[in-house]
Amino acid sequence: MSELFSPFKIKDIVFKNRIGMSPMCQYSSVDGVATDWHMVHLGSRAVGGVGLIMAECTAVSREGRISQGCAGLWDQKHAAGLKPIVDFLHKYDAVAGIQISHSGRKGSAATALNGGNHLNADDPDGWGTVGPTSDAFDPDGTRLWKAPRALSIQEIQEIQQQFVNSAKLACDAGYDLLEVHCAHGYLLHSFLTPLVNKRNDAYGGDLANQARFLLETVEKVREVWPENRALSVRLSVHDFVEEGLNLEDSTQIGLWLKDSGVDILDCSGGGAVPAARGAIGNRTAEQPDMAGELRSSTGLPVMAVGAITDPQQAEDLVAASKADIVLLGREMMRDPHWAHNAAKTLGVDTRHILAEQYGFFVG
Ligand SMILES: Cc1cc2nc3c(=O)[nH]c(=O)nc-3n(C[C@H](O)[C@H](O)[C@H](O)COP(=O)(O)O)c2cc1C
Repeated sequence: MSELFSPFKIKDIVFKNRIGMSPMCQYSSVDGVATDWHMVHLGSRAVGGVGLIMAECTAVSREGRISQGCAGLWDQKHAAGLKPIVDFLHKYDAVAGIQISHSGRKGSAATALNGGNHLNADDPDGWGTVGPTSDAFDPDGTRLWKAPRALSIQEIQEIQQQFVNSAKLACDAGYDLLEVHCAHGYLLHSFLTPLVNKRNDAYGGDLANQARFLLETVEKVREVWPENRALSVRLSVHDFVEEGLNLEDSTQIGLWLKDSGVDILDCSGGGAVPAARGAIGNRTAEQPDMAGELRSSTGLPVMAVGAITDPQQAEDLVAASKADIVLLGREMMRDPHWAHNAAKTLGVDTRHILAEQYGFFVG
């Protein structure tokens, strides 16, 4: 009996197995609107039997994107573009998830496919960025990272309303799971971590104040996100820098998030400052164990992510209660039928893993 292929439930949302595709920017949107690429990228993993398909970080405003090619969800046109994809995922029995996000001081960049360099506000593809303070991500680096504008309290509240607006649009599009992105040095994480947040108003100074932007946002989102659907937050559970957030801080933050109505924590790491390795840096493989620790210290379900490639490794994480769902990023790029192949490796009946158009012949 495989734990990886056992169902899981949050509220009314049933995951047919514990395998998820991690959110991954595709730089293939046009003014934030999804294209055929997204249908194929996300839809093919549903065909391959993945239980949870997470759409990439999707900006709550035009300036909240990382690059011009990033996905957005600030207008009905975005929800209309995403709905056929959600319908397709549902047709193949996958839970449809989406991550809503604001890039903060890491926005206004060229797409990663074009080098990822920061673009000046006067570049036709760039814009002015915002953050907790006016400190740039990497002022001494060889690459340009321009200084953001420190957000006023009124602007913080406006951005919170943008998250609420995106949550409503995600609901209209039919998503089952909504994830608030608070990792990798983007806006919410940049407020959460002492490495970046040097404010001395109500939104900085100690952990409770640093967490205020996140917690208020989550509470406002929870008010409009249906009670019977799942709400997740992706955290950088560890900043991977001495003075940064650690597991103890993340436990406290997780407990606050639990009180704010969050159903599951998505446990990533790094990305706040150049010294903190990013989402796919060399400490990524440490993350799944941290997910397990957060699961026991907060009592919340967790998604583990980071260098999970092998079926037995994924099975062990779930069987050892370190993860309720395992997310795969790059390995899903390599193999859209990873779930089917994992079932074969683990000796699970594969007949109903692939969509029937394939499964009937090769299941
Ligand atoms: C091309 C690419 C784009 C990514 N985009 C996002 C994103 O939009 N949101 C996010 O939270 N993480 C993003 N990540 C991080 C992944 O979700 C995942 O956490 C990371 O790749 C580690 O998992 P892996 O070792 O299975 O690849 C991205 C990673 C890659 C490779």
